[in-house]
Amino acid sequence: MHSRRALLYVPGDDRNKIEKALTFGVDSICLDMEDGVALNRKEAARINIPKALRELNFGAAEKLARINAVGSGLEEADLTAALPARPDGIVIPKVEALDQVRWAAEIIEAAELSNGWPVNSIRILIGVETARGILNLKEIASHPRLDGIIFGAEDYAASIGAVRSRNGWEVLYARSAIVTACAAYELQAIDMVSIDFKDVVNLKIEAAQGAAMGFSGKQVIHPAQVGPVQEAFTPSDEAIAHAQRVVETFQASQREGKGAYALDGKMIDRPLLKQAEKVLARARAAGKV
Ligand code: COA
Ligand code: MG
Repeated sequence: MHSRRALLYVPGDDRNKIEKALTFGVDSICLDMEDGVALNRKEAARINIPKALRELNFGAAEKLARINAVGSGLEEADLTAALPARPDGIVIPKVEALDQVRWAAEIIEAAELSNGWPVNSIRILIGVETARGILNLKEIASHPRLDGIIFGAEDYAASIGAVRSRNGWEVLYARSAIVTACAAYELQAIDMVSIDFKDVVNLKIEAAQGAAMGFSGKQVIHPAQVGPVQEAFTPSDEAIAHAQRVVETFQASQREGKGAYALDGKMIDRPLLKQAEKVLARARAAGKV
């Protein structure tokens, strides 16, 4: 699965911003046709995105295209505009039911077959950002073409009538629900956007909180957010060293016939081993070990 510590949105109708995005060293670039694009610019985005995908070198960055919501009336033209240029994945926003994912997956598979591309090579990520989407996560998250679920805090707050706060307690339940569904189906969980893109201090706090909650990455909208977010979702050298020690000492203690033992004054048993293994898996995904 592609690493998506930071997933950067770029308005799909803005060629200059797309060219700029290629210089940020970001894991994943999402060319947007949805809410980052004005209604009277949707057609421009549909022309510009496939052109950019064909003409520009994205290097190691993943190439995603975000269509408008299934049911908006815009989705089919968006999807059929993006697919011929072979993006790595399609992002479907505001998903509320499994059928919406199935609809897109059928069109994507038909494009793969007619172009001779491997079936399932174009991945789907979904935005879950409404009350219905959260309630239906159990079904939605089971679709085999999914790589990850993206949480949209602003849409979710609008959906439930909440007022956004700095500590984000009003979206805690939805964030935890998404992390849980993603863990159950082995998907990536991509946390909310910090819309106050000038406030890097708050961004770092929020990104660290998301990483600690179990998210694997975070959406970003501005170049200043890329570095701090990629760092927050990369295990630190200390965390990696500790995880390696846990793995080593756990095996030794098992050989001695002890299920639980003490390391630096704290108890270690099998759940702690699993946590350590997750840290090492994330470090490997970030190319660190
Ligand atoms: N992708 C690529 N380049 C971007 C960028 C992005 N998401 N956001 C900003 N930049 C570029 C700007 O074009 C500017 O380039 P320049 O120096 O060559 O002019 C530079 O980075 C600095 O940007 P800045 O002037 O600080 O911000 P801005 O006022 O131009 O833009 C936003 C602010 C919010 C409009 C812009 O960041 C943006 O469009 N973000 C994406 C929004 C989006 O897609 N939302 C939908 C998903 S939630
Ligand atoms: Mg949204």
